[in-house]
Parts: sequence; C-alpha cells; structure tokens
Amino acid sequence: MAYTPKILSFAGSTRTDSFNKRLVKLAAEAARLAGAEVTQIDLRDMPMPLYDGDLEKAQGLPPDAKRFKQLMIEHDGLLISAPEYNSSISGVLKNAIDWASRPEPNEPPLVAFTGKVAALMSASPGALGGLRGLVTVRSILSNINVLVLPHQVAVAKAHEAFNRKVKAIHECQRERDFRWAFEIKFRTR
Ligand SMILES: Cc1cc2nc3c(=O)[nH]c(=O)nc-3n(C[C@H](O)[C@H](O)[C@H](O)COP(=O)(O)O)c2cc1C
Repeated sequence: MAYTPKILSFAGSTRTDSFNKRLVKLAAEAARLAGAEVTQIDLRDMPMPLYDGDLEKAQGLPPDAKRFKQLMIEHDGLLISAPEYNSSISGVLKNAIDWASRPEPNEPPLVAFTGKVAALMSASPGALGGLRGLVTVRSILSNINVLVLPHQVAVAKAHEAFNRKVKAIHECQRERDFRWAFEIKFRTR
C-alpha cells in the first residue's frame, strides 16, 4: 500500500495578513493534491514565550511549545514559509525552533527534527522575495538534522504578486509544490 507522507505546514509570521501564511497555504494545498496528508498550523495559535533557560528549568517546556514540538514529531515533512527580517530569520520562527529543539526526559536529542524533510519558501514586498532569510533558515535546519530540499521559492514584490497575479502564482506554486511533495514522499520512506 502506498505510504502517505504527513506534512506540517506553517509560516514564520503571526501577522493576520501575512504573505507567508498565504504562500504556505498554497503549498499545503498543492501537497494535498499530490497525495500528502497536510496539517496547516498558525504560530499565532500557539504563542510561546521567548526561550529562557530559567523558565525551562523551573517549568519545562511551555504548553504551546510542547504542542508545537509534538506536532513536529508526528509529521514526516515540513513546509515552511519564512519571512525575512533584516536579512535573516524572523524571531517567531527561530523561537519556535529553539523551543522544539529542547530535549525532554528520555528523549533522543533533536527528536522533533532528526530525519525530517523540509521545503522552504518565502514572500516579501522586497525585490529578493526574502531569499536572504532562507539562507539562514536552511543553515539552522540543516544543522539540526533536517534534510532541506534544494528547491525553494521566494516570491518577490508579494504585495503585487498576491494582489494582481494570485492566480498565476497559484498555478506556478502548485506545479513546483507537486515536485516537492513527491520528493518528500520519495525520501521519507
Ligand atoms: C523587523 C523587520 C525586518 C524586515 N527586514 C526585511 C528584510 O531584510 N528583507 C525583506 O525583504 N523584507 C524585510 N521586512 C519586510 C517583510 O518582508 C514584510 O514585512 C513581510 O510582509 C513580512 O512577512 P509576512 O507578510 O508574512 O508577515 C522586514 C520587516 C520587519 C518587520
């Protein structure tokens, strides 16, 4: 029987009108069409305090960090749309990764990351579409045992792209994301 990959999909932005949320939803839809089981989450629904070693020592992982980490554990692949902040990763995304990387009793190290496959994308009103931030996201994830797919998408001038060319982008993303989803399927089992 064919294996159905489970993919967790989210943006590194909490903003209501986030371009990255819109982009990752397109990718999620495409991955579903390609046969994956996709769980779409919004990091706004699981607000995590800034990582603090004292807080962790006193109380363990905060409930929403635990929830996010558990979702990561339960999925094979990740679709992440990461906004670029000052040429790098957004604080929201880095903080979520930091909490999820923390080991709990009797767990192997990096249990939420090791062996996962990730596809990255970004959207920005700028001319580079958040491409520079993806370099950092790729580096972080690769260093914590995630296989980051070589293909990535950066949507430049997102305010125009999503307003005027939404259909074209949708088609373009859909075609590329089919490839990602199949690649994820191929590599996860
Ligand atoms: C603190 C901050 C830094 C930013 N730095 C960059 C940047 O380096 N490059 C870029 O293209 N856009 C930058 N932007 C603009 C974001 O790309 C833009 O706000 C985008 O809409 C954020 O993603 P979202 O729509 O998913 O929330 C920055 C925005 C903020 C708030």
